[in-house]
Amino acid sequence: MNKEMIEKAGSFIKEKIKHKPKIGLILGSGLGILVDEIENQVKIPYHTIPEFPTSTVEGHEGQLVFGDIHGVSVVAMQGRIHFYEGYDMEKVTFPVRVMKELGVDILVVTNAAGGVNTSFEPGDLMLITDHINFTGTSPLIGPNNPELGLRFVDMSHPYDRELRDVARNAAKEVNVNLQEGVYLAVTGPSYETPAEIRMFRTLGADAVGMSTVSEVMVARHADLRVLGISCISNMAAGILDQPLNHEEVIETTQRVRSQFLSLVKEIVRKLG
Ligand code: HPA
Repeated sequence: MNKEMIEKAGSFIKEKIKHKPKIGLILGSGLGILVDEIENQVKIPYHTIPEFPTSTVEGHEGQLVFGDIHGVSVVAMQGRIHFYEGYDMEKVTFPVRVMKELGVDILVVTNAAGGVNTSFEPGDLMLITDHINFTGTSPLIGPNNPELGLRFVDMSHPYDRELRDVARNAAKEVNVNLQEGVYLAVTGPSYETPAEIRMFRTLGADAVGMSTVSEVMVARHADLRVLGISCISNMAAGILDQPLNHEEVIETTQRVRSQFLSLVKEIVRKLG
């Protein structure tokens, strides 16, 4: 990863913002509405930022939103970059590098995911306790820049234990039932087959999705503390006798948005 590219994007952004963000938020499909909760907004569209990739998926807006939630300085990625859009893993995770460059030390990743655990229901929120990288690749492949992180990154605790406690307490306070489980990442863009979902369940997955783990690998490489929350937008293939589609994913995330918003806002307040 080229440090100059990161610095170039970083200095472009620093000229436009007043406060150094402490928390970075990556908002998943249908979850971009969280930016409405950000006060004193400064919006920077991805396409204006040097070296920044642009998001092409419906339900993903494609801008960085800076500002405060409960007085805590944050930056939100409204619209994430997916590997299935054709970007390489380095581009997909470039925004995480830039967040680190801007001074972020906690990354909150959110996503819409299919429920693999049959005790889950669409609309459930799930604290990510661990993940399985089933994408067959890694954003850390290639020459390592020691200024950015270690060659061999420890992944024993990818999702910070203290932050998970904060999320559990926040969920109690705002009265949100928070499931917990392992997120398994595939590349997509096709949804999985029922046989794949049975395999993933056997492997220990509770939810499946097409994002997040590459960002988390880079975040850990950059020594950011990570918290992850999935919105179970549908039951994964083969569990219910119905086809999967992106509209259902968006509909479900919109149905639970007030719970999602109050949970994330409370987490940010506690971290502030
Ligand atoms: N599979 C993969 N990714 C997803 C799903 C799913 O069922 N739902 C939302 N993102």
